[in-house]
Amino acid sequence: MAKKSTKVRTDKTPVELLTRKQADAEHARLGQEIAGHDKRYYQLDAPTVTDAEYDELRKRYNAIEARFPELRTLESLSLKVGAAPARSFAKVRHAVPMLSLDNAFAEEDVVDFVGRIRRFLRLGEDEPITFSAEPKIDGLSMSLRYVDGELVTAATRGDGQEGEDVTANIRTLKDVPQKLKGRNIPKITEVRGEVYMTKADFLKLNERQKEAGAQIFANPRNSAAGSLRQKDPTVTASRPLGFFAYAWGEITERPADTQSGMIKWFEHCGFTTNPLTKMCRSVDELIAFHRKIGEQRAKLDYDIDGVVYKVDRIDWQERLGFVSRTPRWAIAHKFPAEQATTTLKDIEIQVGRTGSLTPVGKLEPVGVGGVIVQNVTLHNEDYIKGIGGGGEPLREGRDIRIGDTVIIQRAGDVIPQVVDVVLDKRPKSAKEYHFPKKCPCPLKTDVVREETATGEEGARNRCTGEFACPFQKIQHLMLFVSRRAFDIDGLGEKQIELFYDKGWVKEPADIFTLASRNSKIRLEDIEGYGETSVRNLFNAIDSRREIGLDRFIYALGIRQVGETTALALARGYGSWKAFHDAALKVAKGDEEAVAEMDALDQIGDTVIQAVAAYFSEKHNLGIVERLTKEVTVLDAEKPKTDSKVAGKTVVFTGSLEKFTRDEAKATAERLGAKVSGSVSKKTDYVVAGPGAGSKLAEAKKHNVTVLTEDEWLKLIG
Ligand code: IVH
Repeated sequence: MAKKSTKVRTDKTPVELLTRKQADAEHARLGQEIAGHDKRYYQLDAPTVTDAEYDELRKRYNAIEARFPELRTLESLSLKVGAAPARSFAKVRHAVPMLSLDNAFAEEDVVDFVGRIRRFLRLGEDEPITFSAEPKIDGLSMSLRYVDGELVTAATRGDGQEGEDVTANIRTLKDVPQKLKGRNIPKITEVRGEVYMTKADFLKLNERQKEAGAQIFANPRNSAAGSLRQKDPTVTASRPLGFFAYAWGEITERPADTQSGMIKWFEHCGFTTNPLTKMCRSVDELIAFHRKIGEQRAKLDYDIDGVVYKVDRIDWQERLGFVSRTPRWAIAHKFPAEQATTTLKDIEIQVGRTGSLTPVGKLEPVGVGGVIVQNVTLHNEDYIKGIGGGGEPLREGRDIRIGDTVIIQRAGDVIPQVVDVVLDKRPKSAKEYHFPKKCPCPLKTDVVREETATGEEGARNRCTGEFACPFQKIQHLMLFVSRRAFDIDGLGEKQIELFYDKGWVKEPADIFTLASRNSKIRLEDIEGYGETSVRNLFNAIDSRREIGLDRFIYALGIRQVGETTALALARGYGSWKAFHDAALKVAKGDEEAVAEMDALDQIGDTVIQAVAAYFSEKHNLGIVERLTKEVTVLDAEKPKTDSKVAGKTVVFTGSLEKFTRDEAKATAERLGAKVSGSVSKKTDYVVAGPGAGSKLAEAKKHNVTVLTEDEWLKLIG
């Protein structure tokens, strides 16, 4: 994406000398300007400033907020939230352009496609043409360039001529060999294919994102794209992405004469190719393949949106060539979207843990692609009004009213959404929906509109009640007792809701005083409880009066602070007192404390802002104070600095036999080592179990010490 540089307006008065009034004005102006740049960059793909200029604006904006923390508003926080994808990746010009495919929708389109090929090649009616028929994976296309068999560049498709360099991130994918296997590897080999995320992993990732109050992805394709566009490759490494190889770009000596031969060669080189690929020899066989894959589609673990037919003989492909930007020798036969028509009975608002209000459409139940759908996400206020809402698929010019007949679609086969409203069937009684100005909780707290920085989800409405809002309180209590937080046996969603409704547990500390209040409450008298189960519950609660610092921080429910971040904070500060003192200072805008937090591994602006917001809120401080009277927070194990591997970077590879990957990682980190997913010059040790492959070769290339599991155990003592 080319960027034209225009002059950026920054006031040159040093931030330390700004009066409060000047700061107010500049903060507001910068906020608007940054949001505008974000929109132009992320949504319109048309930035007007360079990355450096943009960073300058953000730096000043943050500096103003650090000096005047009272300027920090929900809006200003949201400017920092969700802007996760890196703004700058180097550009890569494709040696051979990455083109697109023409689409066929009806069977006649396929007949025409084959007819055109016959005419062009002057083939007789009975002369067979073999096609490679392949599922069309709904992911992101990627070009991997190998020089002398070594992966050197991975680039996205971009505009087809120029893509983005995502090499460091792609190196973390297990389906992408760092080095091509086999002999006689061409000097230059560009392998092309699709990066994707499975439906199951997409759902899991969204669960984690939700818990951390981070961006929710609309479908597996978006989550694969978001996971790849990360500045930090370790984030990509933590996201399970797959890769299917199906095409090539520049190649100095092509090792096969057919598409199918090339696919086999890719497999020999160490790539994964799609197992459903089939050779077809007639239009009938192509159409039968389309039908068969269509039937399997819902059950496949990854999204596909059609099948691709390619002439198998490459000499014929070369003769057929391209018409404008699509090949004459291939076509994408798309599947009709899985859609159904039903009525929208009502719209309800769901309040998430972080207070975001999501409108959910209540439908007359209907079957779509083998699943009964009763609820549909309506995303946000703008979506219902038909004025955008983050690039979602509602037909332009449509608004959604209660009572409407709606066409719903399972996007990416997973989340159902409304794609159209049948206006002819709109009843007179259809009701326009007015987004609530107040949170639907009994407190009726104000709702604010929050524009997301990336615009991916459109404008969101948020409850301002934070933990004073009962919905958020319940959600927080659920997080608090969950497995990864306090892990209290016998306290799940049902019990929390019940105890909350009865007024027995309003905040975390109340859980620990339940037993002492039980003479009044008398849990034993509740249906489903008896003397024993009540005793068990109180024992389970008591056994959690001591808790590790990382779990404790996670359990507080700070926005943006998921498990991994909590662990990073715990490791960084070591004790609750140290973290608590620092967080209070950060909330007051103490520059030294902010800088100290910023210096911690894995902690950046977004988390700092969230910690500051949490610890600026009086209500939260009360919750924390009452809780720490009930529980003892154990110090985090500080990574050792006196071990032999402290400060070293280690990569584990192959199938480890003496310990699991998680154990190996935890031990290494406890000893002060950094565990990485890929080998580079900076790697100190590669610990290789049986079956180690490309990473071993990388280690040799960079002269990195390779250890067996036993040698590693000996080294760490
Ligand atoms: S072949 C010259 N094969 O579909 C075109 N593309 O609409 C070479 N895709 O950008 C592409 N599965 O991202 C090809 N088996 C497959 C595919 C596939 C998915 C995507 C790819 C491409 C888009 C074209």
